[in-house]
Amino acid sequence: MLFSAVLLASSAALAAAQDFNAICATPGACLRIKQFFAIEPADPKSADHTAIEFNILNDNANFGASAECEADWPYGTEDWPKQRKDCSIPDFSFYFNGFNGDIDTDFVIEATAGYRDPAVAGPPTPGRAPQDYVTNFARGNVTKDVVACETFGVSYKFCYLKEDKEILMPIYAKTA
Ligand SMILES: *[C@@H]1O[C@H](CO)[C@@H](O)[C@H](O)[C@H]1NC(C)=O
Repeated sequence: MLFSAVLLASSAALAAAQDFNAICATPGACLRIKQFFAIEPADPKSADHTAIEFNILNDNANFGASAECEADWPYGTEDWPKQRKDCSIPDFSFYFNGFNGDIDTDFVIEATAGYRDPAVAGPPTPGRAPQDYVTNFARGNVTKDVVACETFGVSYKFCYLKEDKEILMPIYAKTA
């Protein structure tokens, strides 16, 4: 992305009453997390790691793609992603917002999903690569509405998406 990045669109719908199921029914309006797992040790003194893994899907009809995103850090430290971290392909990235270190509490996943769209490139400029890369910015809430956590004995806590639930991440801005 260039310093001259311009805002192509932001969703006016986001400012109004928020029926995200309706908004996200339009392909390309939202990123979606349909697979999500998190694990942390149940013993606070454990030297083990906290780990989170999820799949972000961009269901845009023309530029659809998905990526695996993951983070792990020594339990009890604050080494979770606070700045953008690439997913399995660098077109996707994420970080956590408002996270307190415990996977069993609410937090926000901030994400980007990018692709090349020749329609935004403008006229070709000799000696300059086409400026056709679009970045979508989205965020979604990890809450008990969609994610459940269970503690297994004294060893670990495991969190997963409830049946038929997904984390909706409305796209609030695009730059090119
Ligand atoms: C996420 O939570 C915030 C704060 O409660 C809320 O304003 C926002 O609409 C939620 N976003 C989604 C996609 O559910």
